[in-house]
Amino acid sequence: MQTVVITGGTDGLGKGLALHYLRQGAHVIAVGSTPEKGRALLAEAAALPAGRAAFVRADLTSVAATRDLVNRLTGEHPVVDKLVLCAQRYRLFGGRAVTPEGFEHSFALAYLSRYVLSHGLHDALRAAPRPVIMNVGTPGVPLGRIHWDDLQLARRYSGARATLQSFRANDLLGVAFGVRHAGGGVPYVGYNPGVVSTGMPASLPQPLRAVAKAFFTLFATSVPKAIAPMTALLDDPPGEPFTAHWQRRRLSLGGRAFDRQDALRLHDLTHDLIPA
Ligand SMILES: NC(=O)c1ccc[n+]([C@@H]2O[C@H](COP(=O)([O-])OP(=O)(O)OC[C@H]3O[C@@H](n4cnc5c(N)ncnc54)[C@H](OP(=O)(O)O)[C@@H]3O)[C@@H](O)[C@H]2O)c1
Repeated sequence: MQTVVITGGTDGLGKGLALHYLRQGAHVIAVGSTPEKGRALLAEAAALPAGRAAFVRADLTSVAATRDLVNRLTGEHPVVDKLVLCAQRYRLFGGRAVTPEGFEHSFALAYLSRYVLSHGLHDALRAAPRPVIMNVGTPGVPLGRIHWDDLQLARRYSGARATLQSFRANDLLGVAFGVRHAGGGVPYVGYNPGVVSTGMPASLPQPLRAVAKAFFTLFATSVPKAIAPMTALLDDPPGEPFTAHWQRRRLSLGGRAFDRQDALRLHDLTHDLIPA
């Protein structure tokens, strides 16, 4: 029985993947911060003939909570076959929020948690016959940059700047993971699903929420359709240490977004920011 860990596995794309792998007979561990969403997933899972579902509540804005999650997962599951990173909450409005650990919210949730989980579960993944990490985000979108002199955006904050920086940080996370764990046999896949109809608009304030919902109704792909190319990659991952994809299209790693020096620089800075 495969063990599939999915952060954000209680909603949107993560939930779609969770139900898919349950139907395939996997042991799916879905991570989210809202117990009601976890209970709803478990209720849906109970109606399926195969698979085993677990919900783990964790607030992934916290590095300590993410590390506790890694310890719990590696303690209970010495072998993890797939790690899918979907947890996200866009915070475009409302001003700069700082976690109790002192990190800007988007940096903490969208980037730091993925850094800690990716590196922390590497050995458990390596023990699987055909492991893979999929970091679901926005590779290929030519927006945003790393603010090297102000990673927490304490001096010049905007919600868009923070969100876009977290996107670019995840591109570099994949590159650095591939370099740091070269030869480890755990391929890292950066994946952009395009516009998909998920619970994402619910976190936006009105009237943007209504606009986003209408936009999604008109233009977005459904979750079942969007996860088809994702499961194809997860079940047959590329051989290279790091690849980036926009739906079925493989992206070139030639641009600045995937710069190796930048990736290692961010890796080292992150390592220093969250000492063990
Ligand atoms: N949907 C799109 O059009 C689209 C486009 C490009 C990229 N993406 C990427 O795809 C990924 C999944 O997006 P989605 O649209 O499926 O998202 P979604 O429907 O909004 O689901 C987000 C998930 O993240 C969890 N989450 C949020 N904050 C959390 C926290 N502090 N701790 C733990 N879990 C937390 C949520 O659970 P709780 O609410 O219980 O915390 C939920 O399960 C994201 O990385 C997103 O950037 C999506």
